[in-house]
Amino acid sequence: MAFDIARTRAAYPALTEGFVHFDGAGGTQTAAGVIDAVTDVMRAAVGNRSAAFAPGRRSLEVVAAARQAVADLLGAEPDGVVLGPSATALTYTLARTLGAGWRPGDEVVVSRLDHDANVRPWVQAAEAAGATVRWAEFDRHTGELPTGQYTDLVGERTRLVAVTAGSNAIGTVPDVPAIAKIAHSVGALVCVDGVHSVPHGPTDLASLGADVLVTSAYKWSGPHLAAMVADPARWAALRPAKLVPSSDAVPDRFEYGTPSFALLAGVTAAVDHLAGLDPDAAGDRRARLRAGLAAAQAHEEALLDRLLAGLAARPAITVYGSPARRCPTVSFRVAGMSPTATQQALGDAGFCLSSGDYYAYEYFQTMGLRDSGGAVRASIYHYNTADEVDRLLAELDAVVDRTGTMAR
Ligand SMILES: Cc1ncc(COP(=O)(O)O)c(C=O)c1O
Repeated sequence: MAFDIARTRAAYPALTEGFVHFDGAGGTQTAAGVIDAVTDVMRAAVGNRSAAFAPGRRSLEVVAAARQAVADLLGAEPDGVVLGPSATALTYTLARTLGAGWRPGDEVVVSRLDHDANVRPWVQAAEAAGATVRWAEFDRHTGELPTGQYTDLVGERTRLVAVTAGSNAIGTVPDVPAIAKIAHSVGALVCVDGVHSVPHGPTDLASLGADVLVTSAYKWSGPHLAAMVADPARWAALRPAKLVPSSDAVPDRFEYGTPSFALLAGVTAAVDHLAGLDPDAAGDRRARLRAGLAAAQAHEEALLDRLLAGLAARPAITVYGSPARRCPTVSFRVAGMSPTATQQALGDAGFCLSSGDYYAYEYFQTMGLRDSGGAVRASIYHYNTADEVDRLLAELDAVVDRTGTMAR
């Protein structure tokens, strides 16, 4: 089925404002169903969780529905879904919990391709425990994360391997299943950052080989909330720091304070939105998610090819990395122009793009680009169009012409 872009765009009220959003990696626009679901809960009688009265039961149901929705999205068990305010906060919770069991001589493996949210919590937990940090390096030219290095990095003392399923800087999709296999051969735990990958295609916890997978709903049309999923048995074996009277059940004991019930209803609605991306899809929600996200992925990949070809044809533009498998995310620079100046020039023309390091700190540091401003990032989401790609390329031409940097 051809992806119905007009129907898809109509589901995002914010798109009527007319901005061109190549900033999905920093947060997508919100689907109408999400806004309605959040508003409905805010308008309804809602109490703190309690089975004793209907408004209390409503919030219990909202939480259960969000767990089920995220479980369907990722191929997990609802009881394995820990909900929280952000991927960063959840990863810190897990790092402190796991780190409490590490000893001097233990080792953790992180990658220089990752967003700092899947690096620093582990580095700091390792430091606190006296454990050793080992670094997986990316290829500076291609932006690939070679799998082979993990056989050297992982050893008998490795307790954890943290790796991204999709780079938010240059889109690289590492071979996570192969890396996980190496980690599991020594009994190490694998924590996968799915924040950038989950919005761009079907995801399956088991096929990834992830023990823990983290995702943020605001990157896939939902509200600013996140989830961390694992087998419930994995959570049952861990004891996070928690308040004495708060629930000791799994997964609740990993969640701090009273959750945002309204936004959790938005998480469920966002998953339902993704499950409806292919109107012809049949079956249960997981099957419809797979079909909808596969259709969106094909659409995004066609736009990515168009964007990459257009950028490659412009000598004043340098694109970083050329990974074989990638999310639709591109970092680039315009010759003679700082990334912030390029971002500003595009912003003035109504184009929304990020600039800087987008917290992919180690990537830009290793590339020697961080101190001079990082790069500009064009990230494609399923509501983008071929026309928007063409307009971005034309605007870049105008930017280059204005600054006189075109290498003619
Ligand atoms: C790949 C990746 N991981 C982690 C994060 C952090 O997510 P959050 O803002 O939910 O903490 C981001 C945010 O941009 C990201 O792109």
